Amino acid sequence: MLVEGATGTVDTMSDERAVVASPCTVSNLGPGFDVFGMALRQPEDRIEARMTPEPGVVVESISGPGSEAISRDPDQNSAAVAAAVVLERGGADFGLALRITKGVRPFSGIGSSGASAAGGAYAANLLLERPLSMGEMVLAAAKGEEVIAGGLHADNVGPALMGGFVIVRSYDPLDLVRITPPSNLGVVVCMPDVSVSTKRARAVLPGTVPLKDMIFHLGHAASLAVGMRSGDVPLIGKSMRDVVIEPARAPLNPYLAEAEALARERGAAGSFLGGSGPCVIAIFDTDLVDGEGIAEALVQMYESRDTQATSWVTTWGYGCRRLE
Ligand code: HSE
Repeated sequence: MLVEGATGTVDTMSDERAVVASPCTVSNLGPGFDVFGMALRQPEDRIEARMTPEPGVVVESISGPGSEAISRDPDQNSAAVAAAVVLERGGADFGLALRITKGVRPFSGIGSSGASAAGGAYAANLLLERPLSMGEMVLAAAKGEEVIAGGLHADNVGPALMGGFVIVRSYDPLDLVRITPPSNLGVVVCMPDVSVSTKRARAVLPGTVPLKDMIFHLGHAASLAVGMRSGDVPLIGKSMRDVVIEPARAPLNPYLAEAEALARERGAAGSFLGGSGPCVIAIFDTDLVDGEGIAEALVQMYESRDTQATSWVTTWGYGCRRLE
């Protein structure tokens, strides 16, 4: 696959060790399956990469929520695969030892494996003598995430690396467009204690889409992008509709319709299923609405149905950054 372009600056400082923060992301945002993604301010992964004289990538440790369920096999770990692709493309004559601290458990719907893949690619790139471009890094991270998701998609790793709201204009060649979201765009993430595997959630999708549904999605996706560009939170919110992917995934995500409706009742401008689920995402205008109220209502709704839930009240984020 060729890489046509992606905006964003690439940190070129080379060293023997790099520690980076890599954010979780919300993808799809309603109508933009595999096309729309947005970085979150929190939660985020922390990835440490240390140069080793032996070639190849090893995963030394994984800690944090859900870490026991994540493989340390370098061929099955999204950070390690992404880092290995960066080393290979960058012609590195060294290997890497990774230490991963998770910010959120896997199978969450807010790009947990994508955050690790993006962080692995970003940290490895910092150690190259001649760093890859942002577009090449996104492709490396997408290949890392592919081993977990069972399909190549860049709508989590793109925004995790580039920050802001990202549109995957094309996959072949890979080409991403970044828009800075409005400063008053708040995000509530509510994660019920249910695990949804991305592979399974992709396997239930229809192979074809009726023309009327394509028209519906095009109209909503285009309007959502205009809302991001013009800072129109109500337009973004009312454009967050999905008549294809979410209905197919609803059986894997209990109380999804109730949660989305409740968030809107409590003042959210829009709500949607985060990626493949189970997180429910609500966006709101931080000048007008109390995001904590939305988060509490969602957690209570799940708990009243014997399902524990965790929430974050946050906003859009800036993408991977170097910590040390
Ligand atoms: N766009 C992808 C999907 C994101 O919905 O399957 C998975 O995190």
